[in-house]
Parts: sequence; structure tokens; C-alpha cells
Amino acid sequence: MTIAVHTLETAAEAAPGPEPRVIRVALAGFGTVGGALVGLLRDREDAIARTHGIRFELVSILVRDPERSRPYPVPGDLLTSDVEAFLAADAHAIVEVLGGLEPAGRIAIAALGRGRTFVTANKALIAKHGPELAAAASGHGGRLLYEAAVAGGVPIIRALRDALPETGVQGIRGILNGTTNYILTRLSDGATFDQALAEARKEGYAESDSSRDLDGRDTEDKIRILAWLAFGADPGVFRVHRRGLTRHADRIAADADAFGGVARLVGECLALDGGLVAAVEPVIVSPGSSLARTLGADNFIEVETTYNGTLGFSGPGAGGGPTASAILSDLIRHVPHPPAPENTPMAVADGRELAWVVSIRSAGAVVSLRDLLMAEGVDPVLEMDDGCAGILRVRTAPCHRSRIKAVERALEGASLEPVVTRFESGGFSSA
Ligand code: NAP
Ligand code: HSE
Repeated sequence: MTIAVHTLETAAEAAPGPEPRVIRVALAGFGTVGGALVGLLRDREDAIARTHGIRFELVSILVRDPERSRPYPVPGDLLTSDVEAFLAADAHAIVEVLGGLEPAGRIAIAALGRGRTFVTANKALIAKHGPELAAAASGHGGRLLYEAAVAGGVPIIRALRDALPETGVQGIRGILNGTTNYILTRLSDGATFDQALAEARKEGYAESDSSRDLDGRDTEDKIRILAWLAFGADPGVFRVHRRGLTRHADRIAADADAFGGVARLVGECLALDGGLVAAVEPVIVSPGSSLARTLGADNFIEVETTYNGTLGFSGPGAGGGPTASAILSDLIRHVPHPPAPENTPMAVADGRELAWVVSIRSAGAVVSLRDLLMAEGVDPVLEMDDGCAGILRVRTAPCHRSRIKAVERALEGASLEPVVTRFESGGFSSA
């Protein structure tokens, strides 16, 4: 990452040209999320410049203790514990990942009051002061962005703001706290509550005050933000029924088990009978449900709409990397009209070995499917002869796509009407 000497100009004034536009960023907080963001900006520097025509420069980093060693070293003169000195830094965009209401609120007002872009992961701040910060932004030409404040790396804020307006959102519910979901998942693996909480802290999922995760306040903040976006409800005002996991997580999990279900901490806000109903509470859900299948620190959010059916959003809900990705996506929005991505020639090199099911019409077959597979270097794993239907099926061991194509061609040549279907047991890259 380049560290530069700066002049006072806004991003809008920066001259467009073949060189990437420089966006100066002041970062408040250099812990789990701030550290991951610095790492991400460094790793993706060239890609961001190529694709978005932007180069981010860090101009100041606010911490409590500038002397402490950091996983991502930066020049010492960037670090400060002085909020005023931090605010004096000449930045186009201010990222706040301190947590808590102060000095985060003061920094937000100062940044937005100067027409800057203010990006935050701080749900407590947005839940309490979202409307006044939004007003400060629109009053001074600033921009308030907080994708990272709800559901970590899952782009639910953008979906509600950009993709779902006027779809008639009726309700939002889901798992919005990674720490408690991680704990519930680990309890069902046999871990103790204390072990699970210690792991969640170590992974960087938990708030610095983890009682906010456990008693549901963190989920409540997120529900307030979502209800604000979806229904226009003042996030600081409406009532949220809240019951967390504190002290009773083991019992809640055991109670769920006794009734054949799975315990999940669910947050919801619904338009009901002309009003708004909002709650955060442990819920016993059915084992096959999307909520039950959401494991570890993942989040899952369901949005019910009138005109667009019900949509599901899932992914990593906590942790430095996913949260930093959400912040980066907001930072990139600082530039409203980036140049079109350049056309990058991409070699197609699919070296994956994938498993397949090959079926043929067996009646009148004069070649052995097994022999033909083996002749092309494909191992048959399981053979099933459906004599009644006259179909012979073989599941193969993982092999390269070119081998199965050769098998298919040979079977077509022998008029055996082959049908080839990929047999998947993993994700994007595995067979
Ligand atoms: P963290 O690891 O505790 O880091 C907080 C950072 O802020 C530290 O660098 C700390 O300085 C600095 N800081 C805190 N109070 C300060 C103050 N008064 N003055 C100066 N510096 C101060 O927290 P985090 O996990 O990165 O979370 C940061 C924010 O992101 C929170 O709002 C949290 O809710 C939100 N968030 C976190 C996650 C996650 O998975 N962790 C996900 C989404 C959103 P020192 O390093 O010197 O102590
Ligand atoms: N502590 C929060 C969680 C971080 O566990 O979900 C992400 O907002």
C-alpha cells in the first residue's frame, strides 16, 4: 500500500485519467476488523486499481495504544491515539471500526459534516444514531455506508437498499450473530459453553464486550437497522422483545434436543396488523430448516416480500476477513462511476477432477460400460443395473472432464444413448 503526502481535494475533484484515482482513507480501529482491512487493501491493491480505477492510501490510524505491535505492520507515524489529530488527517473516506458509541459518534459527525464518506461496521452506532447520521450525510454531501454492520460479509444492507425497495418487504428474520451461532453449533458437537465462547473470542467473532453477543443486544442492534431500512422505523425507538442465551445456552440446546429440534438465536422484525413486531430470542427450529443448517459463525437471513417472494441470504456473519470485505465494498462505492473493468484475457484451465454418473440403455449393448470407462482411464465405483427399465448406471471416481467426454463420445458412437451427470459431494471446486 502506498503512503503518500496529501493535498486537500475531494474524490469528486480528483482528475480522471489513466492513473488510478487516489482515495485517502483514515481508519479508526486496528483490531480484528481494522487489521483485516489493512491486509485486504494490501493484498488487493493492484486488482482494485485495475478493476475499479482506485488506489487507497491510508493517511491515519486511530488506536488506543500506538506502541502495541500489530499483525499488519504500518509506518509508526500513521498510528495515533489522539482523536483530534486523527480527525485533522486529510482523508476522502473515514472507516470506523472502533466499536461503542464514543468516540465513534464524534468521528462520524465530523466526517459527514465535512462531506466525507463514512464507512462503519459499528451496529451499536447505527442502531442508535442512524437517522441523525443519515441526515448529516445528506445535509453536507457526505455518504453513510454500513454494509459491515449487519451480518458480516453477507450483503443484506445493499440488498435491502438497492435490490428490494418497492418489493413490499413484509418481514425479515434470521440468525444475525455469529458468536452465539458458533456457540450453539459447538455445544451440539459436545464442547462446553466456556470452551465454545473462548474459541469464538479467539477467532475474532465476539464483540470486545461479549455479553452483547450473549444477551442478544448485538442481534437487537442489527434488527433495529434492518427494520429502519425495510420499514422506515426509527431504529432507536421501537420495542424489541429480547431474550438471549446468557447462562442458559446448555439448557436451551438440551430443551431443543428433547423436542427433536435445534436451538438458534433468531432476530425478526415483521409488519403485522399495521404495526411492527420485533424480537430476538432463542427459537427451537426444525432440523431440516435453513436456520438449523446454518452452522458456526455463519448467518442466515430470510426476507419475505409481497412482489418478489421470499429471499434467503447466507454466509459468514462475523470475523475479520468477511467484515473487511464488506467494508471494502462500501469503500469502492465512494467512487460513484468507476471506469468499466478492463477486459482481462483469462485462460480456461479446469484441472478439477470430478465424479460422474454415466447411464446407458443396456438392451442390446455389445460393449461393456465398465471396460469402456476403464479404457479411458476412468474408475467405475458403483454399478447399478436397472433391468426393468433397461438402464445400466455407473458412478465413477473423480476424473478430469476430458476423460468423461471421451467416454460419452464412445458411447454415443455405439448408439447407447449415454446420459452423463456430474455427481457432486462438495462445493465449487470439489467432486
Ligand atoms: P477490536 O478487535 O476490539 O478492535 C477495536 C480497535 O479499536 C482496536 O484497534 C482499538 O485500539 C481501537 N479502539 C477502541 N476504542 C478506542 C478508543 N476509544 N480510542 C482509540 N482506539 C480505540 O474490535 P473489532 O472486532 O475489530 O470490532 C470493531 C467494530 O466492528 C465493532 O463495532 C464491532 O461491533 C464491529 N464488527 C465486528 C465484527 C467481528 O467479527 N469482529 C464483525 C462485524 C462488525 P487498540 O488496538 O490499541 O486496543
Ligand atoms: N460479534 C458479532 C457477531 C460480530 O458475533 O455476529 C459481527 O457483527
